[in-house]
Amino acid sequence: MRILVVGGGGREHALVWKIGQSPKVEKIYCAPGNAGIGQIAECIDISAEDINGLLDFALQNNIDLTVVGPEVPLTLGIVDIFREKGLKVFGPTQKAAEIEGSKAFSKGLMSKYNIPTARYGVFADYKEAQGFIREIGVPCVVKADGLAAGKGVLICLTKEEAEAALEDILVGNKFGAAGRKVIIEEYLTGQEVSMLAFTDGKCVRPMVSAQDHKRIYDNDQGPNTGGMGAYSPAPVYTPEIHEIVLKDVLEATVQAMAQEGRPFQGVLYAGLMLTEKGPKVLEFNARFGDPETQVVLPRLKTDLVEIMEAVIAGNLDNINIEWLPEAALCVVMAAGGYPEKYEKGKVIKGLDEVPEGILVFHAGTKSANGSIVTNGGRVLGITALGKDITEAIEKAYQGIKHIQFEGAHYRRDIGAKALS
Ligand code: AMP
Ligand code: GLY
Repeated sequence: MRILVVGGGGREHALVWKIGQSPKVEKIYCAPGNAGIGQIAECIDISAEDINGLLDFALQNNIDLTVVGPEVPLTLGIVDIFREKGLKVFGPTQKAAEIEGSKAFSKGLMSKYNIPTARYGVFADYKEAQGFIREIGVPCVVKADGLAAGKGVLICLTKEEAEAALEDILVGNKFGAAGRKVIIEEYLTGQEVSMLAFTDGKCVRPMVSAQDHKRIYDNDQGPNTGGMGAYSPAPVYTPEIHEIVLKDVLEATVQAMAQEGRPFQGVLYAGLMLTEKGPKVLEFNARFGDPETQVVLPRLKTDLVEIMEAVIAGNLDNINIEWLPEAALCVVMAAGGYPEKYEKGKVIKGLDEVPEGILVFHAGTKSANGSIVTNGGRVLGITALGKDITEAIEKAYQGIKHIQFEGAHYRRDIGAKALS
C-alpha cells in the first residue's frame, strides 16, 4: 500500500514509524513531515492545511490510504473531500470533527446525552457571560468556542481575571472567529488522563491510558504548552474508572454522534479529569493526541494499518487489538523561549549517539546544509519503553543527555506523578 500521512509533528513521526512496521506498506509519504520523518518516509512540501494540494497529490500518486494527524484539516473537511473522490482516508468527517472544532457543540452533546462533564454556559454576549460567572463563582474556566491551537482555555482564579478573559475574547477578538462564543465552566480538580479510542462509528476499541504534561515547568508550573511529555499507562486510571469511561464516555459519545447523524470514525480522544465525583470530560479531540501518540503507539502490538482499514470498512469489531505490558515515557525537548517567542535554525547535535532502543521522535526539525536544525517550539520527543515507569524514566533521560542544541530545555519531572 501507498500511504500519505498529513502533518509534521512528533505525533506524525510516531504514526509514520508505526505504519512503516506494517507488512502491507510499500511506500509512505508525509506532508509536510520533518527531518526525522524524512529518514523513514518521503516528505512532500505541502502544508497540512492545503486540502486541494493534498488531494491532487493523493490522486496523482495513487495513494491507497491517507492518515490525517492534526485537527485543522479535519475541521476543514479533508475526509469528506477525499471520500468524494473515492480516496480512502482515516479520520472523522467535518460534521463529526466538530466535536473538537466547537466546544459549544461538544458540551451541548454531552449535556443532551448525559455524558459526565463540568457544568457550563455558552455566551456570545459579555453581560450575560458576566452574570453567569457571578452565579457559578470562581475559580472558573473560560474557553473560546473554536480551535485556538491549545491556547483558548483560561483558568480564572478571580472574578477580575474571568472578566478580563471575557473582554479579551468577546470584545477584543483575541481568538478571532474561534472566540465569537465563549464557554464558561465550573472549575474541576483531580488528575488528568487522556483516553484515546479507535472507532468505526459503532464499535469502540480503547487504546491504553496516557497522561500529558501541559505546563512548561516542573511541578506543573508556568504557562500551558502543546505538551512537554507524556507517559502510559496512567496508574491513577484504574480498571474501575476504565469501565465507567468506556461505557459512559467513549461508547456513549460514539452512539450519541451516530444518533445525531454525525457518525464518528477515526480516533476519539477524551481528555478527562478524574474528580472525586468520578471521571468528567474536559474536552474531546477528533484525532490522535500529541505527545500521547508518542507513548501509546510504541505499546501497540497490532498492525496499525490493519486497524485503520477496519475503522474505514466499519468492521473494527473483527479486530483484536493487543498492547505491550511495558510502560512508555516521552520527554519533549523544546526551543529556548518556548512557549513564548523562540528562535529556529539551531543545529541539533548528538542524535546519532542516542543508545539503541530509545526512540527520538522529531517535531520541529528540518534538514539544512547536511545538519538537522530546530524548526519549531517543540523540537524532539525522546521516548523509551521500560518494564515500569521508573525504568522508562531512567532510559528516556539517559537518551536526552546525548542531545544538545542552543537554548534546549525540557522538564525533569516527566512521569514523577505516576510514582507518587
Ligand atoms: P481543554 O483544551 O478544554 O482540554 O483545556 C486545556 C486544559 O485546561 C486542560 O487540560 C485542563 O488542564 C484545563 N481545564 C479545562 N477545563 C477545565 C475545567 N473545567 N476545570 C479545570 N481545568 C480545566
Ligand atoms: N496532548 C493534547 C492534545 O493533543 O491536544
